[in-house]
Amino acid sequence: MIEKIEQNEQGQLFKPEAVNGNFAGKDFISVEQITGKEDLDFILYHADLMEKSVLKEEVRNDLAGKCIVLLFYQESSRTFSSMLNAAQRVGFSYIVPLHGMHVFSSAVKGESLPDTIRTFVQSTAANMIVLRHQDDDSSEIAAKYSDAPIINAGSGTKEHPTQALLDVYTIQKELGDLDGLTVTMAGDLLNGRTIKSLSRLLAVAGSDIKINFVSPEILRMPYEIIYKLRSSGVKVVETDIKNLDQAIAESNVVYMSRVQREWFIKRAIEYIRSMFGDRISDISQDLINALAKEIGNADYLSATRGYVLDSEMLSHAKNKMIVMHPFPRVNEISMDIDDDPRSAYFRQIRYGLYVRMALMLALMGKI
Ligand code: NCD
Repeated sequence: MIEKIEQNEQGQLFKPEAVNGNFAGKDFISVEQITGKEDLDFILYHADLMEKSVLKEEVRNDLAGKCIVLLFYQESSRTFSSMLNAAQRVGFSYIVPLHGMHVFSSAVKGESLPDTIRTFVQSTAANMIVLRHQDDDSSEIAAKYSDAPIINAGSGTKEHPTQALLDVYTIQKELGDLDGLTVTMAGDLLNGRTIKSLSRLLAVAGSDIKINFVSPEILRMPYEIIYKLRSSGVKVVETDIKNLDQAIAESNVVYMSRVQREWFIKRAIEYIRSMFGDRISDISQDLINALAKEIGNADYLSATRGYVLDSEMLSHAKNKMIVMHPFPRVNEISMDIDDDPRSAYFRQIRYGLYVRMALMLALMGKI
C-alpha cells in the first residue's frame, strides 16, 4: 500500500499511495496523493450529495459497526468539530474523540507517536484514525504503524490536506469554475500549512492558475513549493504585504491567513540553541524561554504590521470574487466586511463538513 521514501529519526518514512481512481483503504495524508482532476471531482461531487443529506437531516448507517479515533495534539475548533460531526453523520458506531492529546495523553509521560498509534489501534480496534499533530512527518509515521487509514487533520507546518479539499470545494461552489483563477494568498506563508496544501491542490484542480503570494519578507513561501507550483504550470508572483491592495484588485479569490505566533517562539528557541551550541547547557531553560519570547514576539509584531483586509481595501476588488480564511482570524480581516456577500469564510467552514463526510466514506470504501 505504501512505499518507502526516506529515513528520519523514527526509521523509514512512508509515502502514501496516489489515489488514482480508488480511495478505498488508503491513508489521506498529503494533497500530492491527488494526481488527477477526476479524483478531486469525485470528492467534490460526493460532497454535494452530503450537503443534501445533512440538509435533509438524514440518519445514515453507512459505517455501522465501524470505529474511528480522533487524536488531536494541537488546538483546534473547526477541524475537530467538523471531523467529529462528519464521523457521526456518516454513521460510525464507535467514535473516540480525543482532544488535548498534548496535555492529557501518555505523550506527556514520554510515550512516542508510534507507540500511541499502536495503542489506539489495539485499545479500540479502530477502522480509521484522524490525526492532528505538531510534527511535519507525524501522519507518515502514524501511517507506518497503523493498518487503519490515517486522515491528516494538520501536520506541523507542512500539510493540511482536508482543508485544501474544502477550500477548493468552496471556490467551486462560490464561483462555479476552477479554471483561469487569480488567487491571492496572504499572511504566514512560511508557517501556515493550509496555503501550502491549497496552492498545490489548485495546480491539479484548474488550468491557467495565477497565485500571488503576499507576505512580509520573513514569512515567505519556501522555495521548494514555489518551484513545484511553477513546474506544474502555475504562474506564481511573490510580493510584499504593502502591495496587498493591488493584488486584491485583480483577484477572484483572496485567501487571508493569520500570522502564526506560536511558531515564532519555537523558531526563536531553535535559533538560541544554534547560537550557543554546546554552551547551551550553561543557560537555564527559564532564561532560554524568556529570551525566545522576547525575540519571537518582536518578530511577530513586525510581521503583522499593516496587514488588515478591511472595507476600504475590498472596495477595489472585483464584484465577483470571494474572500476566504481557514480561521482562526486574529486581526487580518476586519469584522466590517463580514456581511459583504463576497466574504465566504463562514460558509467555507460548513463546506468542510460535507467534504470530510465524503472523504471518510471514500476511504472506507463506501462510495
Ligand atoms: C489552521 C490550522 O490549524 O492549520 N486552521 C484550520 O485548521 N482551519 C490555520 C491556523 O491555525 O491558523
